[in-house]
Amino acid sequence: MSSGNGWIRVGTTTDIAPGESRAVRISEGRSVALFNVNGRIHATDNQCPHMGFPLTRGVVKDGILTCDWHGRSFDLEGGGCFNYECDDLETYPVDIRGDELWVQAGDATYKRRDQHLQLLWEGLLSGDSWTISKATALLLSGGVSEHDIVQLILRHLGRHVASERDAGGGGDVVSLLVSGLEVGKRFDGEDRLMALSLAGRAASGRASERLEVITLPPPVRWDQIDDWVRMFSRNMQDFRIERCLHTACENGHQDHIFKLLFECAVAPYFLGFSRNVASLGDLARVVDTFGWGEASELVCNLGAKMTGRGRDEPERFHRDAVRLLTELAPELESHDYEGNTRTEYDENALVDALLSVDIERSFEAVTRALRDGVAIERLITTFVLLAADRMARTPVNVDAGWGPLSTEFNLAASLRHVHAYGGPAAAAKGLYHAAWQIFDNRWINIPARSLDEPLPAHRTDTPDAAAASDLIVHSIKSLDIHGVGDQVVGYLNSGFDGSDLLKEVGRAILWDDTNMELLPTLRVAFNEWEGSGGGAGGGDASGGGAGGKGHPSRYQLLVGLVRYATDVRLNKNSMASINTAMRFSEGRTTVEVFDE
Ligand code: FES
Repeated sequence: MSSGNGWIRVGTTTDIAPGESRAVRISEGRSVALFNVNGRIHATDNQCPHMGFPLTRGVVKDGILTCDWHGRSFDLEGGGCFNYECDDLETYPVDIRGDELWVQAGDATYKRRDQHLQLLWEGLLSGDSWTISKATALLLSGGVSEHDIVQLILRHLGRHVASERDAGGGGDVVSLLVSGLEVGKRFDGEDRLMALSLAGRAASGRASERLEVITLPPPVRWDQIDDWVRMFSRNMQDFRIERCLHTACENGHQDHIFKLLFECAVAPYFLGFSRNVASLGDLARVVDTFGWGEASELVCNLGAKMTGRGRDEPERFHRDAVRLLTELAPELESHDYEGNTRTEYDENALVDALLSVDIERSFEAVTRALRDGVAIERLITTFVLLAADRMARTPVNVDAGWGPLSTEFNLAASLRHVHAYGGPAAAAKGLYHAAWQIFDNRWINIPARSLDEPLPAHRTDTPDAAAASDLIVHSIKSLDIHGVGDQVVGYLNSGFDGSDLLKEVGRAILWDDTNMELLPTLRVAFNEWEGSGGGAGGGDASGGGAGGKGHPSRYQLLVGLVRYATDVRLNKNSMASINTAMRFSEGRTTVEVFDE
């Protein structure tokens, strides 16, 4: 019964003997804990703020309520928690009307935004996945926008990367953050929380203080910064680059920064540092989403670490490749890319050369395609589909090479960012980096195949798309690496929707322990599949537009991903905490959760 102002009748004074406690359900999934301490009744939320154990099972002593599960303690009067990584307990006013007990707990308005943001921050610093998941779930269910949550994660990440990480580690973290956000947008509910929590977990870690980077005293012009950064990049002087980039930000030159960073990242001596290019693309996405105000520390620090990183003396093949690209660089920089508009070209000849294990021939074929006016985006599509095709066909009996193959795939796709933010000359040079990556992966024993060769034409035997999709997910979970690729082709040949299948596969990936490993590739598969027309199996018949529409090998985007997910799968789900976090955010205690 309720009497307005949130007051609820919860029983009578004789219901709870001194020293006893009692839980009273006040709404679906929400209960109040009542404690009789020496004849005085206290009321609190019954859900322990740590992990949701019912507090009526705890102990009260000296005015302190201690939870029976992990021993977190709370001031019974005000609710303050005495432990780390646990927020305060809600306590409620109690009124005795005659022999009736009334509690003012009916106001469910969300008031703990700041406290839960603080909790998320604590989780990010400690890396505790439960705290991150719980805080995220509480904030989302309280109506706090995903943008605000990720802004906090990003702020932490900037400091964490600046104080802790080397360039490679920092780049991987940014990739996971962006991948988690972009993949998460395709899902709702628990799946979305999972993707967001993965992003948070990836960004977590210590963030110690460091000296602030100081702006160079004026006057400093942009053209000087541009020259200096290129020189410091050649000389592997990342600290100097960071100060230059910071100065550029402070002086309002942000719009030039990514073009410069991409041009540095695709320099010949960075052949083999393919993650630089992909990570810079991710940084550009971060700035697009959150603006320079939030992202400048991260961009200046990580951008400097990547473009100023140390390099060992290259081995023979590597040295040859660097020399070849150095010789080509002036032509690539002065080429008029306005004329590169062709989408029809001899793709087989390029693929043949890329797989020839002859780096000179490989680079020559890329140069020929550029000189012949083939559109950069069309060439990127060739590289993306070639990588997908190799993932779809790599033998799995020994070492399938998933790490290097997914690097090939993700690097190729990231060239679209290089093109968008760094311009066509940088993207053109990026194509040679992708060609080098294929050459460098020559130890993976995948037979050559033309991308226009038709795939098998069989259809699935299952009656409808949902059943066919279930079968594929079952094959992933039962690690049927030898059957699952054909099933995907059969599904798509039957005209079923590839985007629906991708979503189901994505869900299976998100909930396995391999999710961190697969997340960047899952994101690229989503983006490229949608860019190639998405939807039902056939696509249009334009014969391979810049985004791969109607391309005979576009199904391999899904086949490659599914085979990768199946072969590395662990069938372990350590993220059951996400389910608990969702229910926790609804106010339920763990006993109710586990009893369901
Ligand atoms: S201390 Fe209460 S649930 Fe952990």
